[in-house]
Amino acid sequence: MYLCPMLKSTLLKATEAGANEIKRFFNSEFKISNKEGKNNLVTEADHAAEKAIIDIIRLDYPGHFILSEETGEIIMDSEYKWIIDPIDGTVNFANGIPICCVSIGLEKAGAMLLGAVYNPLMNEYFLAEKGGGATLNDKKIKVSNKTDVTHACLVTGFPYTYLDMPNGPLQVFERFIRNGVPVRRLGSAAIDLCWVAAGRFDGFYEHKLQAWDSAAGYLMVEEAGGRVSDFKGHEYSPYQPHILATNGKIHDEMLEIINNRKAL
Ligand code: IPD
Ligand code: CA
Ligand code: CA
Repeated sequence: MYLCPMLKSTLLKATEAGANEIKRFFNSEFKISNKEGKNNLVTEADHAAEKAIIDIIRLDYPGHFILSEETGEIIMDSEYKWIIDPIDGTVNFANGIPICCVSIGLEKAGAMLLGAVYNPLMNEYFLAEKGGGATLNDKKIKVSNKTDVTHACLVTGFPYTYLDMPNGPLQVFERFIRNGVPVRRLGSAAIDLCWVAAGRFDGFYEHKLQAWDSAAGYLMVEEAGGRVSDFKGHEYSPYQPHILATNGKIHDEMLEIINNRKAL
């Protein structure tokens, strides 16, 4: 697919600028406040990273739509939409745990075109381009080859406010754990998705994500040869809460287990 090189260059500049703020504030003193829920934090670094990112995008593309976690929507009549999570993994960041990142997705007319996820604390830069594959630090990545859930290594996340629902987060988690399937919890959905794309995990699921958590990461998984859907197996949209992202080979089995139609 043809992609204007300037869009990519803006994406790289904006991601780098956000990551510089993560590095600047990490393990230093910064203000922390709470959003909705008990430990749903936002720090001074989230705001600084978001400002640095948005300033660059607005300078290069003042007419583009922006959706960013802390700012909300900057509505523009444009088919381009930048979807930004200035720090994904804020609780990790605030605790000095180096698993957090900048995540930026660029959508054109409702389709994700580009995605960047950069964790400067581990020096891992993931990039995906629609139809052009996915890379980690400029090297092509692809999903794993595992063919069954029993032998898979999974990752998940939990919402800040617990969701009481059938097949909810703890019920699904329990199903895997009781059957000896390892399920990790890194605390950054964008990184979870990238690690599926890189073949470190065979699958990732979560019950309640926002568009900025998954915009860049889901393109990464698709471009690395994996599959991403909602919990019904329908084509994924980042504007609904459920996500299942896998290497493709264990996807249908994961759907059966999540929906409690198959015992492990
Ligand atoms: C959170 C992380 C976490 C996921 C939460 C998200 P934040 O984003 O991605 O892994 O479980 O649902 O809200 O708050 O660190 O940007
Ligand atoms: Ca997030
Ligand atoms: Ca965030």
